[in-house]
Amino acid sequence: MAKKLRVGILFGGRSGEHEVSLLSAASILKAFDRSKFDVVPIGITKEGRWLAAGAADDLLSGNGRLEIAASAAAEVNLRAGDPRSTPGAKLLHEGIPTLMAPEPAKAAGGTALDVVFPVLHGTFGEDGTIQGLFELAGIAYVGSGVLGSAVGMDKDAMKRMFAQSGLPIVKHVTLLRSEWEKSPKKSIAKIESKLKYPVFVKPANLGSSVGISKAHDRKELAPALTLASKYDRKIVIEEGVGGKKGKARELEVAVLGNDDPKASVVGEIIPGKEFYDYEAKYLCEGSVPVIPAKLTKTEAKKIRTMAVEAFKACDLAGLARVDFLMEPGGKRRIYLNEVNTLPGFTQISMYPKLWEATGLSYKDLITKLIELALERQGEKERNSYSYGE
Ligand SMILES: Nc1ncnc2c1ncn2[C@@H]1O[C@H](COP(=O)(O)OP(=O)(O)O)[C@@H](O)[C@H]1O
Ligand SMILES: [Mg+2]
Repeated sequence: MAKKLRVGILFGGRSGEHEVSLLSAASILKAFDRSKFDVVPIGITKEGRWLAAGAADDLLSGNGRLEIAASAAAEVNLRAGDPRSTPGAKLLHEGIPTLMAPEPAKAAGGTALDVVFPVLHGTFGEDGTIQGLFELAGIAYVGSGVLGSAVGMDKDAMKRMFAQSGLPIVKHVTLLRSEWEKSPKKSIAKIESKLKYPVFVKPANLGSSVGISKAHDRKELAPALTLASKYDRKIVIEEGVGGKKGKARELEVAVLGNDDPKASVVGEIIPGKEFYDYEAKYLCEGSVPVIPAKLTKTEAKKIRTMAVEAFKACDLAGLARVDFLMEPGGKRRIYLNEVNTLPGFTQISMYPKLWEATGLSYKDLITKLIELALERQGEKERNSYSYGE
């Protein structure tokens, strides 16, 4: 029998989406094909401590023994977020290799991981930072690389990539926090000269609708800008799709692959609130998924094609959920909203559900993602790094 691959499942993390990550990881751990893989859970606490073995299980189950377990031998010496942290060199030479990089781990008597699946959402998980660590450790990992992850997290950079590829995006303005703080009047004039109310005000780098508001008029604009500027130094302001009376339709496509990615059927979320804000996403039961979305054949085809183009435009890999906004009523104009490089992954999340509706089961989807991670690592290993090598 072929040797089983060892897959590290990384979950939790320091982002606001820590809890969502725990749910995703619990689903993934349950569904993993154990005939093909040995699974190693690795938890990251909200404070940034890395936990292996029993302590990771405790994090997942919300067990109160977490802190005690964390101080035990299972704790890996990684405190990336702590200003008094071990220096970067120590982090790379002691922390990561024990868990991941093949040779040092073997030398230390441990068993190396073949692949890592970062089941992390948002800051420090989906934004290219941890992907950089995997690159340095030379380990295969699920999902997009440093560039794709960073672009997929930054709503301003992402729009530039979409526009460059001729993909339709909503009218928007990007402001720096420093601009807003220094010249509020000028900032408002700039926004009003380019956009019509209502507008959506967003921190450029975040997710789960945190810090996002819909400003219906000038009175609501200033507080919206101040709120968004709490979360990022860059603020994106967009014209609201649907205008004053309507509500945008929210369409989503799951994309899977590396150089030749494929798109799932199109799904739709009908939010239980005025827009798909944090509460509508996680706290109220009123948001309804519709798969497949009610669209004409031509519309669905166009959206799936655009989803693949968006994936390529941002140089993504492995997986991404690509989200669109559609004008309600008769116009039905379609805009690309964003890509999510590590979308929610519970068994009832949109990404796996879209694949299920397209004919790929949750379990097979996970196996496919591991295969894609290995394929991409193989591609990387073909590269030379110096002249004449
Ligand atoms: N330009 C827009 N027009 C209409 N609705 C929008 C617009 N931008 C955002 N929204 C609403 O806000 C939600 C969150 O915005 P989004 O850009 O997807 O941020 P996040 O990355 O936090 O999911 C969307 O799902 C949608 O309901
Ligand atoms: Mg979104």
